[in-house]
Amino acid sequence: MSLRYRIRGIRKVSLSVDNMLFNLLWRRKLGVRIKIFGWPIISVYSSANLHIGHNLVLISDAYFSEPGVAHPVMIRVLNTKAEILIGHDVGISGGGICAAEKVVIGDNVMFGANAFVTDTDFHPMDGIRRYRQDNMKIAPVKIGNNVFLGMNVLVLKGVTIGDNSIIAAGSVVTTDMPANCIAGGIPARILRRL
Ligand SMILES: CC(C)(COP(=O)(O)OP(=O)(O)OC[C@H]1O[C@@H](n2cnc3c(N)ncnc32)[C@H](O)[C@@H]1OP(=O)(O)O)[C@@H](O)C(=O)NCCC(=O)NCCS
Repeated sequence: MSLRYRIRGIRKVSLSVDNMLFNLLWRRKLGVRIKIFGWPIISVYSSANLHIGHNLVLISDAYFSEPGVAHPVMIRVLNTKAEILIGHDVGISGGGICAAEKVVIGDNVMFGANAFVTDTDFHPMDGIRRYRQDNMKIAPVKIGNNVFLGMNVLVLKGVTIGDNSIIAAGSVVTTDMPANCIAGGIPARILRRL
C-alpha cells in the first residue's frame, strides 16, 4: 500500500477512497466519521458496545507516523458484555485498545506510536494457560482527558490515569497515576508534577 502513497496525487485519492469505504463499512456500528490512514483491525461482538467520539484518527500505516507503527491499530471488544468508550479528538497510531470489561478513553487523548491499553491479562495465572481464556484477571481501565501516552507505552488492567498526565515512552503502567503528572518507567512511577 505504501508504494502508491509515494505519488502525491494518488496518495490523496487512495486515502479518501480508503476513508470513504471504511466509513461506509463501519457507519452503522460506529455512527461517526473517522479518519483512517491504513486499515485498522476492529472487532466488536454484535451486542458489545464500541462508542467513538468525533474526529478519531487511526494510523495503521507506518508512512503516516514519524516513528512508524509496529502493526495496524487494533480495537477489540473481546466479548458481548464488554465495552470501549472513546472520547472526541483522540489519535491512535499503531497499538490500540482491548477490552474484556471496560476501557474508557477521554477527550483529546494521544496514543504515541504503538501505545496499547488493555483491561485484561488475556490468559489465566493458574494451571495450563495455553488456549485458556477463563479465570483471567480483568479490571476496567480509564484514561483521562488530554492524556499523552508516549510511544510503546503499555497500560495494564485496572489502571486509571488522571487528566492531562503524560506517560513517558516505553513505560508500563500497572497502578493508577494522578492527574497533571509525568510518569514513566517499568513499572511507571511519578517523575514530576505538571
Ligand atoms: C516523558 C517525557 C515527555 C519527559 O521529557 P522531559 O520533561 O524533557 O524530561 P527529562 O528528559 O528531563 O527527564 C525527566 C526525568 O524523567 C526520566 N524519564 C524521561 N523519560 C523517561 C522514560 N521514557 N522512562 C523512564 N524515565 C524517563 C528521566 O530519566 C529524568 O529522570 P531524573 O530526573 O531522575 O534524571 C519524555 O521523556 C517522553 O517520554 N516523551 C515521549 C515522546 C513520545 O513518545 N512521543 C510520541 C511519538 S509518536
